[in-house]
Amino acid sequence: MTSSPSAEPRSADGRPASFPIGRSCPFAPPDAYAAMREEAPLTKVAIPGGKEAWLVTRHADVRTALASPAASSDARHPAFPALGDGEQAVAADLRPFIRMDPPDHTRVRRMLVGEFTVKRVRAMRPAIEEICAEQVDHLLSRPAPADLVGDYANRVSTTVICRLLGVPTADLEFFRRVTTITGGRSSTAEQVGAALADLFALLDRLIDDKAADPQDDLISRLVTGPLARGEITRSSLLSQIGITLNAGHETSRNMIPLAALTLLRHPDQLDLLRADPGLWPAAVDELLRLLSVADVIPLRVATEDIELDGATIPAGDGFIALLAAADHDPRAFADPGELDITRSERHHVAFGYGVHQCVGQNLGRLELEVALRTLFDRVPTLRPAVPVEELPLRSASAIFGLEEVPVRW
Ligand code: HEM
Repeated sequence: MTSSPSAEPRSADGRPASFPIGRSCPFAPPDAYAAMREEAPLTKVAIPGGKEAWLVTRHADVRTALASPAASSDARHPAFPALGDGEQAVAADLRPFIRMDPPDHTRVRRMLVGEFTVKRVRAMRPAIEEICAEQVDHLLSRPAPADLVGDYANRVSTTVICRLLGVPTADLEFFRRVTTITGGRSSTAEQVGAALADLFALLDRLIDDKAADPQDDLISRLVTGPLARGEITRSSLLSQIGITLNAGHETSRNMIPLAALTLLRHPDQLDLLRADPGLWPAAVDELLRLLSVADVIPLRVATEDIELDGATIPAGDGFIALLAAADHDPRAFADPGELDITRSERHHVAFGYGVHQCVGQNLGRLELEVALRTLFDRVPTLRPAVPVEELPLRSASAIFGLEEVPVRW
């Protein structure tokens, strides 16, 4: 196949094809990604808000682009390729560190990185096991068909993130209600705005509570450390807690049911795991690669020309490093569409790449492993209650997922 430096597929009105592109199958990237990846290293697309941006689709190029010091995550740049309604204005205003550049980004990330070390996350294993066991009890207490998203994954991910942050159990239901609205496809912009305001009010109250009575949790440590020392303002601290909560909650909520369904569709791989539970960590990484649910999270602007293999992202242009396209690049993975928990390639970019690579990845991996293991150990007859084609996709949200997954056992 011939390959040119960049491509601008045109729609009927002569404008570049529009993005985002939805998935037709929940277990694979959008069909168009493969053609774009083969045709050229860069593809120009029209994005919401009347802007244009480049898509980077090849594995090596995604890593080069995301590792470049000229790749800015700052949403205040006019060319920032935001995909969601109001996303750029909110990010420019709140300035969560996922949308900051060094040195500001480095300063904030350093405050959080200690919360997610291998050692600290390992210490959370018993608590996560207990949470998953309780939530399987809850799932089994529901009349079949129950919803693997609402009755299990969402409950696991909200409980884990609240435990990490130090959100009291008494606020958990409120927290679940609010995050269902903020992440929900059917919520209006007004409902999301009101829910976010409620969430920030809760976090604001928690900052005072933890200052008065610090506990062994993330918010307490940030309040008695960087905030007390004047290294971060209260409003910035709120934004950083807000992004950690959102990034950690949405990803697990969406990954757990998708990964469970994927394994159910590959009974041979599930048998391997049943025979040798030591394969679980590798299986989790393979599921992360295959599903790449944070596909469109890395939004950037090139502050200088960024040289890729045979193409250049021009200075001043916005670009999106498509993680699912990279993780399905046959140049990097043999039979990329196959689930193979024994594969030897371990360089997927499902957690991103470069300075913004997921700070919570140790926790994300552990949570997925325990949530899936507990589910399959306790519910060996688990099966979907409807055909996969009928499952409602969460295509509009930043992290790909399913709205609900009815299951029986
Ligand atoms: C389990 C599945 C997860 C996936 C697939 C995932 C994916 C990602 C990706 C792709 C990025 C990079 C964004 C960019 O380059 O712009 C990222 C960053 C981030 N993730 Fe995750 N994540 C997961 C779990 C978590 C968890 C459990 C937490 C926290 C509890 C978390 C917190 C964050 C934060 C705070 C950032 C921003 C880091 C920075 O900008 O330096 N993530 N994640």
